[in-house]
Amino acid sequence: TAQLPEGYRIRSLRSTDFATGFLDCLRVLTTVGDITEAAFVERYEYFAKQSGTYFVLVIEDAAGKVVGTGALVVERKFIHNLGIVGHIEDIAVAKDQQGKKLGLRIIQALDFIAEKVGCYKTILDCSEANEGFYVKCGFRRAGLEMAHYY
Ligand code: ACO
Repeated sequence: TAQLPEGYRIRSLRSTDFATGFLDCLRVLTTVGDITEAAFVERYEYFAKQSGTYFVLVIEDAAGKVVGTGALVVERKFIHNLGIVGHIEDIAVAKDQQGKKLGLRIIQALDFIAEKVGCYKTILDCSEANEGFYVKCGFRRAGLEMAHYY
């Protein structure tokens, strides 16, 4: 298991993370938009109400700034005997913090939660450029993603 650098901590997202750089961390991944604190808190509270479904983790540095994040969405099915599937989403590590195993640590923590809540598998979509990272995290190529944008 990868260790975190001295003073770094991994924890669940909090409603106060509007102020700790969480959204800026996500900007490494894609467009986030101009979100108000009220809108952030409203979405946070929606997640919190769906207990057992959304697990958003962050890594904060020794100064309390968010430098990494990732999410697990737990999908409960009818098939496979009411099987449960984990979906890993929105993994991002701040540009100047990449290569320190923070991404690996986030995936390991999300994997741990997925197994604990009873998922029989965890899946994710990524670009070809990130395939090697997920292989190092124990994933393998399976299936093909399709999308319909609105
Ligand atoms: N290709 C091949 N190997 C890689 C890559 C890559 N793109 N990135 C990291 N690795 C390797 C590392 O070298 C390391 O290998 P080692 O154990 O042999 O030293 C191992 O994977 C673990 O790397 P970490 O240090 O944990 O990676 P990092 O903390 O830099 O995080 C991440 C990787 C999340 C891809 C980061 O570069 C990032 O935030 N990129 C921009 C946003 C992004 O693309 N996120 C993923 C989108 S897909 C999704 O969210 C489901």
